[in-house]
Amino acid sequence: MINPKLPVIWYGGDYYPEQWDEKTFERDIEMFKEAGINVVTLGVFSWTLVQPDENTYDFSFFEKVMDRLYQEGIYVCLATPTSAPPHWMTQKYPEILLTDVNGVKREKGGRQNFCPNSEKYRYFARNIAEKLAEHFKDHPALVLWHVNNEYLNYCYCDTCKAKFQNWLKEKYGTLDELNRRWYTRFWSQTFTSWEEIPVPTTKSVLFWRKDRYQSVLPELYLDYRRFMTQSMLECFLEEYQAIKKHTPDIPVTTNLIAATFKEWNYFEWAKHMDVVAWDNYPGYREDFSVISLRHSLIRGLKEGQPFVLMEQSPSQACWRWYNPQKRPGEMRFWSYHALAHGAETLMFFQLRQSKGGVEKFHGAVITHVDSTETRVFREVKKLGEEIKSLSNLLDTRVVSQTALLFDWESWWAMEDTLTPNVDFRYLSEVQKYFKALMKTGLGADVVGRDQAFERYRLIVAPALYMVDKKLAQKLKDYVSSGGILVLTTMSGIVDENDQIVLGGYPGYLHDLVGGYVEEIDALPPEEKNEILMFGRSYECNLVFDYIKATTAEVLGRFRKDYYASEPAVLRNKYGKGWVYYVGSSVSFDLVWDLVKFIEKEHGLKADITPADDVEVVKKIKDEKTFYFLFNHSSERRIVDLPEGRFKDMITGTIYEEKADLGPRDVLILLKE
Ligand code: GLA
Ligand code: ZN
Repeated sequence: MINPKLPVIWYGGDYYPEQWDEKTFERDIEMFKEAGINVVTLGVFSWTLVQPDENTYDFSFFEKVMDRLYQEGIYVCLATPTSAPPHWMTQKYPEILLTDVNGVKREKGGRQNFCPNSEKYRYFARNIAEKLAEHFKDHPALVLWHVNNEYLNYCYCDTCKAKFQNWLKEKYGTLDELNRRWYTRFWSQTFTSWEEIPVPTTKSVLFWRKDRYQSVLPELYLDYRRFMTQSMLECFLEEYQAIKKHTPDIPVTTNLIAATFKEWNYFEWAKHMDVVAWDNYPGYREDFSVISLRHSLIRGLKEGQPFVLMEQSPSQACWRWYNPQKRPGEMRFWSYHALAHGAETLMFFQLRQSKGGVEKFHGAVITHVDSTETRVFREVKKLGEEIKSLSNLLDTRVVSQTALLFDWESWWAMEDTLTPNVDFRYLSEVQKYFKALMKTGLGADVVGRDQAFERYRLIVAPALYMVDKKLAQKLKDYVSSGGILVLTTMSGIVDENDQIVLGGYPGYLHDLVGGYVEEIDALPPEEKNEILMFGRSYECNLVFDYIKATTAEVLGRFRKDYYASEPAVLRNKYGKGWVYYVGSSVSFDLVWDLVKFIEKEHGLKADITPADDVEVVKKIKDEKTFYFLFNHSSERRIVDLPEGRFKDMITGTIYEEKADLGPRDVLILLKE
């Protein structure tokens, strides 16, 4: 559990009493209690309030608030205010402000506008974190530290440039080595002094291509992403350490933005977080497997440990172009979905809707109507009542037979430069394969390249573009001892320096795949080919591998063009295991049939085979097995159950043989 001090499902969210008077605060407490709220996040953007100038600190406001909350049985997740530096600070020390990708320096305004390498910023941030921790270390309400808020932006200022140059010096030792590994003889990019090395802006090596920045010196951009991930992580760590000095036993986290967020390699972050936290804002009509992927990635960051759902909207967001309300029942549904996937908290942004400011239309538990009689409040209250009896879910762990290998390095390297097809995108390939894994009911985790593979019968690694010798060996070990691996086109292309591994793709993975790719054809999205496999034909597009099979058996062949009848899908026996290779961006149908084929061929078996649009998440604790069933469709669904008697933990209904789910309904079945 997140903190044994509060051994229940945490229910609450961001609250900004500093925006309200005392009378409102007192009324809010009553409403919180009515809604079953037991944790409140405080202080997220309160820097000027707690530090009105360089030498003054005043924690009296939050002290009073925390005292009152605690008296009423409500605990506190306390945030450091460091995502929005005060105006007095940026006025006096403008070097704190970041410079954007166009080389434009911010002057004022907003949040997440600081340079992660500014010594002044870092000093002020760790200082206020330490002062807060010192002040509140013995406060009985405190259960969790929330550092900063949604770390977001890269900076490209001169400070960052100098630090980057030093970072490179440390990494490469000599300029010769850097030039060699960055392949700078291409276009005469050779650097003759460290000071010549730029940061990647639109004034230097970046250019806009279709829908994103790419780099004419991709090796530099890749290193910058690694450097920025590390720089921002250092900001977190400096606050983390300052806090830990005073409260070694209170967990420290930061709310990660969006899970599949390109800028940060969250596997690196998670190594340093006591518990992972993230903010979940499902898109309108977004496929449920996409939300499941995000949760599973967050859960996977710490190999299955429970996580904090720090934010979700009870109703609507405000930052989308169109901000649909969550339909009646939808907030409850996504809340259970989060609990199934590993969350042990359900926290809202926010508890009281703002009266002013840019987010005044963002949904909240207490809306502008300012009443407990609203639809939203009633739904929040109902869920609050339901989860009171579900503490048994704490410390349950998801068990999955399959995993998707997710890799930021591949995502970056593949999308940041000219590749054969600009529309071949990392996330869309990942989503397609993850969806198929989920649909089987075998359970799908997400793993990183540094994590243990042996736990899984089947690993799917879509578009694993960057494979160094170490990862190649790890994959070989996994397969030779019996694992099943699915690889796809655009894999194993480059090594850790972003240099092509010669000898045909997928580089170091040749013998695993049992063949190699001689050419990659690339066509506009509307120009499709077909793959003949399993006696039927499947659509594919974007990229088409011209494959030479060596030891592999050919499962599928292209139907058209100059590679008609040539191999498109391979399977290769390797040691005790098997490798499947898919040489194009294929339709979901193909992925699904392939996964079903693998399931059958290798005797993988789900406890529960999900009906269409039904999701099954299996969890265990001690000897107990829990099945979460979600009906994502708008029709009734019947699901066949394994042997035994199952009790729905929410309603107490007993199910045997079959479970019956209404539209968008959820059951949590505990085997009796
Ligand atoms: C993010 C932030 C919050 C708020 C919400 C609105 O998640 O962390 O401060 O802006 O978005 O959805
Ligand atoms: Zn900077």
